Amino acid sequence: SITDLRSILEFTSTLAREAGDLILEGSKAIAASGDVNSKKNSVDLVTEYDVRVEELVREEIKKAYPGFQFIGEESYSAGVRPDLTDDPTFCVDPIDGTTNFVHGFPFVAISLGLIYKKRPVLGVIYNPFLDYLYTGIEGHGSYLSKNKQIPQKLPLSAPRPLPSLSGALIAVEWGSARSQTAAGSKAESFLRLAGDPNHANPVEGGRMAHSLRSLGSAALNFSMVAQGGLDVYWEIGCWAWDVCAGIVIGQEAGCYVTGGHDGPRDGNVTPEILLGRKYLIVRAIADSETEKGIDAQKRI
Ligand code: IPD
Repeated sequence: SITDLRSILEFTSTLAREAGDLILEGSKAIAASGDVNSKKNSVDLVTEYDVRVEELVREEIKKAYPGFQFIGEESYSAGVRPDLTDDPTFCVDPIDGTTNFVHGFPFVAISLGLIYKKRPVLGVIYNPFLDYLYTGIEGHGSYLSKNKQIPQKLPLSAPRPLPSLSGALIAVEWGSARSQTAAGSKAESFLRLAGDPNHANPVEGGRMAHSLRSLGSAALNFSMVAQGGLDVYWEIGCWAWDVCAGIVIGQEAGCYVTGGHDGPRDGNVTPEILLGRKYLIVRAIADSETEKGIDAQKRI
């Protein structure tokens, strides 16, 4: 049953730590062997460990919650694509930040989201390299436990008002779509966000954010906005498993999340939103100025 979200959270957190051990083991093995495959191009990477971690997680979930559905990044790529129904459904990215994982850049996470009646209701994101565990249950807040310490409620610092994007620290990602058109319009958006509009910056509507960041993991970008270290994260190209857990953790920290091809979430997430590929999470409730600035980015 779905009634006891707290015990599901305990199970999911333990599972995330177990998966984290396998991710760390994999990181050592990859450093020694360099064994990596590409999915659609040379920057869309998958390793043996993405598959192994997903199998571990799927099996453990099946044992503990045989009635739950499962959507996972790797089984989805292999053609196992269950419809999103009203049933409790785990939505899992076994290794979010595979490129970081391959390079030994320690921003890598397992992301475990639970959807019920088409709403993300529980999220666990675990970075085993830093031993940061982010958790959230809809209606009960979100938390960060660093190095197995007592969980701290998110955000860790009071949200600053965001009068415009100009004072913001903004996460964006290059993603794996790198055609001239895709990469070119992303670059243009990045310039529009961070370039100085008063100094020969040809990009109309430039905002000059404090700076741009890319953690290389959508789940960790969401977590960092929830924590308060980033003000905004915007990306086109995410998948449901990249963001499902992050949606709960972000919203429970008071963030505004909008996604897919729709407007702001009003509490219900449709499959189109969840499976849409364009996400925005803002630390404070976005005011119209912030939204206008972000809207300018929707040209991509
Ligand atoms: C990717 C990462 C990356 C983001 C992509 C995601 P993966 O997930 O989160 O930062 O830019 O949109 O698909 O492939 O490492 O699981």
